[in-house]
Amino acid sequence: MADHDTNGSTPETATLSIGERSAVFPILKGNLGPDVIDIRKLTADTQMFSFDPGYGETASCRSAITFIDGDEGVLLHRGYPIEQLATEASFTETAYLLVYGELPTREDYERFQQDLKEQALLHEQIRNFFNGFRRDAHPMAILCGTVAALSAFYPDAVDISHEASRDLSTRRLIAKVPTIAAWAYKYTVGEPFVYPDNNLSFSENFLKMLFAKPNAEYKVNPVLARAIDRILILHADHEQNASTSTVRLVGSTGSNPFACIAAGIAALWGPAHGGANEAVLGMLAQIGTRENIPSFIAQVKDRESGVRLMGFGHRVYKNFDPRAKIMEQTYHEVVAELGLKHDPMFDLAAELEKIAVNDPYFVQRRLYPNVDFYSGLILKAMGIPTSMFTVLFAVARTVGWVSQWREMIEEPGQRIGRPRQLYVGEARRDYIPQCRRS
Ligand code: ACO
Repeated sequence: MADHDTNGSTPETATLSIGERSAVFPILKGNLGPDVIDIRKLTADTQMFSFDPGYGETASCRSAITFIDGDEGVLLHRGYPIEQLATEASFTETAYLLVYGELPTREDYERFQQDLKEQALLHEQIRNFFNGFRRDAHPMAILCGTVAALSAFYPDAVDISHEASRDLSTRRLIAKVPTIAAWAYKYTVGEPFVYPDNNLSFSENFLKMLFAKPNAEYKVNPVLARAIDRILILHADHEQNASTSTVRLVGSTGSNPFACIAAGIAALWGPAHGGANEAVLGMLAQIGTRENIPSFIAQVKDRESGVRLMGFGHRVYKNFDPRAKIMEQTYHEVVAELGLKHDPMFDLAAELEKIAVNDPYFVQRRLYPNVDFYSGLILKAMGIPTSMFTVLFAVARTVGWVSQWREMIEEPGQRIGRPRQLYVGEARRDYIPQCRRS
């Protein structure tokens, strides 16, 4: 319980009563959002741990990178609203902001972009890695393995104690992950790898590496490049989500940054996290037609079925996901640019959304469309295969991961992450030889 002063000012401490005993804990104040009770001395003072599976109630770190107000649908990067960044900034500018804390000057920005271009090439030896994968390998498997393998190419990166080394790794990762991602796709479709082109912007270059072929001229469509850029901005960081917390946990052991980001990619792969936009299209394909929506919704409501409405709900956003609105708008821009007829899958998604947001089951549980409900539809319209959706997310989130990793390493007194547990297994017992076991 927070200890309120008699004059009503914000409390400085919280007192925990356990039977006759009590322990007092400091309350730490952030700049925005809820204060936190500092329980670092909980065990010393009470001989108990706190119990918080999924860490939903636990602030695992201090951070100055991203702020989310889930009730109000607010997402700020270094204080700037996501809506402004998505409409006015580029992805590389947003990346600079997330990594270094401020918007770049023109000079800093040009230098940063130039560095990323120079770092986008992969060591030629990395080409050989791809041949080790089956052609039908999921591109996330290729991405995860190859990013981890980068540690073998940059042994200097193991030294994370120097700022210059961390900075070089940061730029290498932001620049090389898109090249690996595009090559993972090319490998699975059996097309030649396309090398990065320094004349293009980050997103233009990414599109070219994905879609260009040596036997035809490839002109980047600026509307599609802008859409990709926006998707990357919207996915760049999202404070202490599962993959970012994974990167921080792995990083807390002093692992090299390539290994940390590979761990983040592994965490992102799951359908409850980065795999959701891929799962949305699978779900829409499974529903098939509007007539099937009611029976699908009935299935979702049946807890025994284990079926969820993919692209709906969020651990943090409980009213709306601000990224979902920008996604929907971007989808319309892409469809108009490509002159695509109304996509039946989009109609189905719109109908599903309309039904769900008016259904008491979803309203009571505060389940609304999240960023992934529309992102898959945009990528599909652009011709990007579903298996690449999470890969694109990883390209974007690499920026958030490295920013969070740097912040953690630079935090004074940073220690290894080590959660505790409530043990519910057997008490101590003696080993029984096999011959005496019944
Ligand atoms: N469909 C149906 N019911 C749902 C859904 C959903 N998508 N999400 C939550 N619920 C229900 C739960 O069954 C539960 O119901 P109950 O109270 O009757 O038991 C209640 O809502 C609360 O659910 P939790 O699992 O506690 O919510 P949590 O915050 O842990 O989950 C999550 C968040 C994982 C995103 C969840 O909403 C989900 O699985 N959504 C679908 C997957 C998805 O779209 N993921 C993308 C997230 S965004 C991102 O990673 C970029």
